[in-house]
Amino acid sequence: MAELSTASITDRLATLGSDRWAVHFEARRRVKAGDDIIELTIGEPDIATPSHLINIAEASMRAGRTGYAGGKGEPNLLSVLAQKYAQRSGQDIREDNVLALPGTQAALTICMLSMVEKGDAVLVPDPYYATYEGVVEASGADFIPVRMQSSNGFRLTVEALEAAMVPTAKVLLLNSPHNPTGTVLTHEEITEIGQFCERHGLWILSDEVYESLIYEGAFASAFDQPQFNPRTVVVSSISKSHAAPGFRSGWAIGPSWFIDKAQSVAETLLFGNQPFIADMTVHAVVEPDDTASLMAHAYQRRIALLMEAFANSPILSPHKAASGMFMMVDVSRSGLSGADFAMGLLDHGVAVMPGDVFGQQAHDFVRLSLTIDDQKLSQAVERIILFAKSLGDKKT
Ligand SMILES: Cc1ncc(COP(=O)(O)O)c(C=O)c1O
Repeated sequence: MAELSTASITDRLATLGSDRWAVHFEARRRVKAGDDIIELTIGEPDIATPSHLINIAEASMRAGRTGYAGGKGEPNLLSVLAQKYAQRSGQDIREDNVLALPGTQAALTICMLSMVEKGDAVLVPDPYYATYEGVVEASGADFIPVRMQSSNGFRLTVEALEAAMVPTAKVLLLNSPHNPTGTVLTHEEITEIGQFCERHGLWILSDEVYESLIYEGAFASAFDQPQFNPRTVVVSSISKSHAAPGFRSGWAIGPSWFIDKAQSVAETLLFGNQPFIADMTVHAVVEPDDTASLMAHAYQRRIALLMEAFANSPILSPHKAASGMFMMVDVSRSGLSGADFAMGLLDHGVAVMPGDVFGQQAHDFVRLSLTIDDQKLSQAVERIILFAKSLGDKKT
């Protein structure tokens, strides 16, 4: 009898899913077994989803908004998202530029599947968000890392883009504000990057999920510049801005002809959206809300706390985040890679993400989450500094 087999996508993605979170899962296992471990691995907002949003979702469910919905999204949500992005960009953005989707992650994957396939290539600034390899691999396209160097503040340059460029490239997967580095690209940098994409005929797939968590600098997007708008697709969600990742509510905004094409991919995968989530998201998009500013305040304070604490360590060099929920720390003076440092640190009571999960350029780093209260964070930093001290400075 012939053997059963699976499609190559399962092999391409095999090591790109939960394998990436091995330190995190090991920490969870040890915590369950009674170990004292402070977790600084994942970036789950540490404040509650605003209760008025939960109330709206509940009332909407009770009012019967639980049936099948159109694949593009509920009209009320499409309308407020079109208004939001029209206002932000000063351009004529309408409902047909919008696709409502369950989170940025789904939006990234659906847009990527709609843009490229085997034989194409995608430029991805390295370091990158841990799921990006999977997003590209799922499409069958080649993943082309573009070097962002820590010595240059992990900023994306046109020189690095030109050096990485291949003739088959069709998309630049851009993320600013950036996870894991927290770097925020300026309007001028975005302009130069946009011009590069124009020269080479590339899409800009712009992941803007941290738009509302910026501490230094100002948000800039290629979408908001008229000359780049026709080649830019924005993906975002309420996961971070409203501390609501479990609601899985996000969107893609782009040229109407592209949104039309991507809608068929979305419908094949999802068969529509959840009306009660759409109602709650309408409220989140329209009504003023202090969730993001509360988080931003806390994360900014914790960045200062970390910068001050690490200033006392000759071995650990923090990269100051200008946005987001994370800080990267260079551990190379300890003589260990980020991955070995993270594994060793588990035995000293702290779980952090190894840098290489975020690309080759983050190999010497670990990533610390800021989504933990100040006291616990201070305790974690003390443990990290002590562990680094025990390893010694291997570069002197
Ligand atoms: C850069 C980036 N993009 C996308 C996501 C996923 O966001 P969502 O919850 O909207 O799917 C995250 C989550 O941490 C992220 O950091």
